[in-house]
Amino acid sequence: MFADRTNWNLKANPLSEALARHRAAGEPLFDLTISNPTECGFDYDSPAILQALANPASLAYDPNPRGLLGARQAVAAYYAARCTEVPADDIILTTSTSEAYSFVFRTLCNPGDEILIPEPSYPLFAFLADIQDVRLVRYPLDYDYGWQVNSHALQQRITPRTRAVIVVHPNNPTGHFTKAHELKKLNEICSAQNLAIIADEVFLDFALHADHPSFTFAHNSAALTFTMSGLSKISGVPQMKAAWLVISGPDQLKSETVARLEIIADTYLSMNAPVQHAIPALLEQRHSFQTQLLARARKNLAELDSQLAAQKSCSRLVVEGGWYAVLRVPATRSDEELAIELLAQKHVYVHPGHFYDFPSEGFLVVSLITREEEFAAGVKLLLSMF
Ligand SMILES: Cc1ncc(COP(=O)(O)O)c(C=O)c1O
Repeated sequence: MFADRTNWNLKANPLSEALARHRAAGEPLFDLTISNPTECGFDYDSPAILQALANPASLAYDPNPRGLLGARQAVAAYYAARCTEVPADDIILTTSTSEAYSFVFRTLCNPGDEILIPEPSYPLFAFLADIQDVRLVRYPLDYDYGWQVNSHALQQRITPRTRAVIVVHPNNPTGHFTKAHELKKLNEICSAQNLAIIADEVFLDFALHADHPSFTFAHNSAALTFTMSGLSKISGVPQMKAAWLVISGPDQLKSETVARLEIIADTYLSMNAPVQHAIPALLEQRHSFQTQLLARARKNLAELDSQLAAQKSCSRLVVEGGWYAVLRVPATRSDEELAIELLAQKHVYVHPGHFYDFPSEGFLVVSLITREEEFAAGVKLLLSMF
């Protein structure tokens, strides 16, 4: 009865089962995986947000496949604030970056075509690819006092079926930003091989060190480039379902791409009017949200480092941006077994590296947006395991 693409393993994984049992037993829990900003005690300007959703203009239906012009102009202003000019006409609004990925995969790929993705990276790609009948091929990020793209390995993974290279900038969970020389190399590879670049910039604004240069791909023109971001992370409002796609690249290719994408977007018209009208105000919220989030992430990172300095078994990998830190821990069992033991013995919940396709055991991922007291206590318990 079902399509092969939905033949997923529907059973909960052992760690999720252990977590459900732990919660059901009412045991204490130090959750170091939290990624939902609305549950982290940040101070939102609730009246401004609610007022933005009550715009009388929302009473009219004025469909536009790219999204309402006012909302796209607000997104263009977001890039202008980063000194990057993006024409509002090159922006398409979507309900999430996941939807943006789907639109791009549908535009570029026939069934069985391939997309290159970084390893380690974000676990949702596998499902997005399955649903769009796309095959994911991984290219390694190497770690050597910092992460870098292994561009030689990336080139070796390209086949006649490759359509695009995904770059997560900064990457989740490694927190590494693409560097200018990596962008140059990527442009050379992609323009020579007729591949597109898909740049996921949902964490772009979250550079953990003030002096970090973080350019956007949104005006990259050497190769066809799809840059995506959205309000889930930028303004900490994932419940609003507001994201976008910026198309850049050689002029003619860009126009043809926008025209094709517009047909896909027109088929769904999935953005609702109240949220589109609220986008300028919701984007405005990012200033206060990002100030709070960065203060917390930096404080938690400093706390982590000070606790790590007092022991010798575990260390932290270099992180430049985003909401997570990666710990290197003794690989005496699988990361999943370790995460289950941490839960049972120390009441600490962390993500094992294999959730993110780390190539070997010995890595745990912790969320830097956890409330400070819970983070400090959770890290202490975690380190006491070794
Ligand atoms: C790298 C990355 N891209 C995209 C998303 C999802 O964003 P959205 O809520 O816009 O689908 C996430 C969520 O954690 C993410 O980590």
